[in-house]
Amino acid sequence: MSGQADQPFLDDLSLSLDEAWKLLVRGSRDRKSPLHTPAVASVRRDGSPSQRIMVLREATRESRMLRFNTDRRASKVDDINDGAPIAILGYHPGAKVQLRLSGVGRIEHSSASCDAAWNEATLYGKRCYLAHPAPGSPVDAPTSGLDPEMEGRKPEGFEVAPARENFAVLLAEIDQIEWLYLAHTGHRRALFTWDEEKGQWTSHWLVP
Ligand SMILES: Cc1cc2nc3c(=O)[nH]c(=O)nc-3n(C[C@H](O)[C@H](O)[C@H](O)COP(=O)(O)O)c2cc1C
Repeated sequence: MSGQADQPFLDDLSLSLDEAWKLLVRGSRDRKSPLHTPAVASVRRDGSPSQRIMVLREATRESRMLRFNTDRRASKVDDINDGAPIAILGYHPGAKVQLRLSGVGRIEHSSASCDAAWNEATLYGKRCYLAHPAPGSPVDAPTSGLDPEMEGRKPEGFEVAPARENFAVLLAEIDQIEWLYLAHTGHRRALFTWDEEKGQWTSHWLVP
């Protein structure tokens, strides 16, 4: 059972916020972290909610930014475009922490940060963006969307180069973090809201 000595953040808002960002940063770097693959929710043009699992590629506390990679032709790209509301949900069973984040999403296709993300993607990762026709297109037969000749082997750099055209990054600027820590001794829930004027997070405990 976890005690306060193990979890110094238990009764401390500032340390809880530190812990939230630590988990996110670790989630972006560690493929085994459950926060590596959170659910990302957006709102369709008709107002209905839509969510999907995405790989968290980068989390930066200073800029409150999370980065995900995606296909420029995906339906979420149309929904998010430049400045749509976005929500991200993850649960880390080991840390016993649920994180509900929300903010504003932005898709970039030809920026320096998109170039950098493309450069750091693996050849297998880049291959996904060769899918034809576009992701989500109805087809008559089961398919990976890839040329069968490209399946089951590592592609060469020149083969995946045309996929850059379909590659984009989704940047989520986080302005609210809801923290829920599960403890036998009593759960803890807190809300952190970014105050743009003060340039700092405001924090409140909530009843779990
Ligand atoms: C473990 C896992 C990781 C995924 N990672 C991504 C990702 O990083 N980017 C992405 O666009 N889709 C990713 N997907 C696929 C999405 O969940 C989704 O099916 C796809 O992007 C189409 O979503 P959309 O039609 O809402 O745009 C992942 C799916 C799984 C199961």
